[in-house]
Amino acid sequence: MIRLTRPFFDDAELQASARVIASGMLVQGAEVAAFEASVARALSASTASSGLTCLAVTNGTVALELALATTPCGDRVGVGTDDEVIVPAVTWPSPGHAAILRGATPVLVDIDPHTWCVDVKAVEEALTPRTRAIIAIDQFGVPADVPGLRTRARDVDLIEDAACALGSSLDGVACGLLGDVATYSFHPRKVITTGEGGMVLTRDALRAERVQALRNHGQHSPGVFRAAGPNARLSELHAALGVAQMQKLETILARRRALAEVFQSGLALAWQRAPQGATVNHQTLGFVLPAPRTGPFAGDRRGARDALLAALRAQGVEAGILSYALHRLPQFARFAVNGVRRFPVAEAVVDGGVAVPLHPLLGEAEVAQILDALRREAGWALGVEVFA
Ligand SMILES: Cc1ncc(COP(=O)(O)O)c(C=O)c1O
Repeated sequence: MIRLTRPFFDDAELQASARVIASGMLVQGAEVAAFEASVARALSASTASSGLTCLAVTNGTVALELALATTPCGDRVGVGTDDEVIVPAVTWPSPGHAAILRGATPVLVDIDPHTWCVDVKAVEEALTPRTRAIIAIDQFGVPADVPGLRTRARDVDLIEDAACALGSSLDGVACGLLGDVATYSFHPRKVITTGEGGMVLTRDALRAERVQALRNHGQHSPGVFRAAGPNARLSELHAALGVAQMQKLETILARRRALAEVFQSGLALAWQRAPQGATVNHQTLGFVLPAPRTGPFAGDRRGARDALLAALRAQGVEAGILSYALHRLPQFARFAVNGVRRFPVAEAVVDGGVAVPLHPLLGEAEVAQILDALRREAGWALGVEVFA
């Protein structure tokens, strides 16, 4: 089976793990600092990187929860609030969950039909005096229009969920530096992986100080606890993997970009598009199927998509769904504000979305096999406009 993704590991990761085991330091040693420094170094060539702090944490979900704790939405937690956090309707649920876990209302908004990032106009319409933060997701590595959001919501904190976007940029500004505070994930589906792992990034010293304390049980200095915080510290083993992975970042990005070009130029499907000025990392390569006009799945985009996934799998190609529509999940639907809105683009992208295998270890024969299988099974969708 050609896997959807595989970590790009070799002797470097084995040696990194052995180094930590030999050191006897499994937590709070040198590796976390080295990993944070390596990410900061990689971003230092970008515009707007001065004063950056990178804080490694246990995963991208916790990173979002800590990032949100640096916004006004975090101030009154436990008191009962009517705070609102705007979240795109299409995503792995973590950004929306972060809002709920801080006692806020996650206000869902539709996405752009081409970039699949949050629709700036929809955000503008959703703003209220209670909006405390906007979580803009660099969807699958494609940068969100954070500058556009900033001009429309000047007084609202902008969290950039760059979980998928290490290595991407918009107009020379690296993803991770676009928001007031940003997050990465290092889950195995991401561009580099530490197994589980995440990071909070900010150029704001006060936010950095808050996250630094919060990730370590709310300790501001040894033994001084000023706020309730989780243990969100990344272990030395995970961080050492990160150090090894960061040394390969440019190789990984180059390979991903070359592969994406082969797929996109080879098949006229409705691939995700990048906005002008963007450089993308191709963390996920996906397209949306049109709703078939005829045949057993006429008008049933989701049925056609699931049949395609099964057919690809039968031919040795693991493809996957793209993401989730949060307004369909009970924990989001129970907020009245999400019941009165419509999310047509989100539904089309979620129901018709297909992620194809893409990782640096894919060989030429495998790429040819994927292209052949897609031509055979999704030939009916080639050249069909999905979002007119
Ligand atoms: C957009 C987005 N945000 C947050 C997360 C959560 O990251 P993690 O799996 O590291 O908790 C993911 C994970 O897939 C994601 O895609």
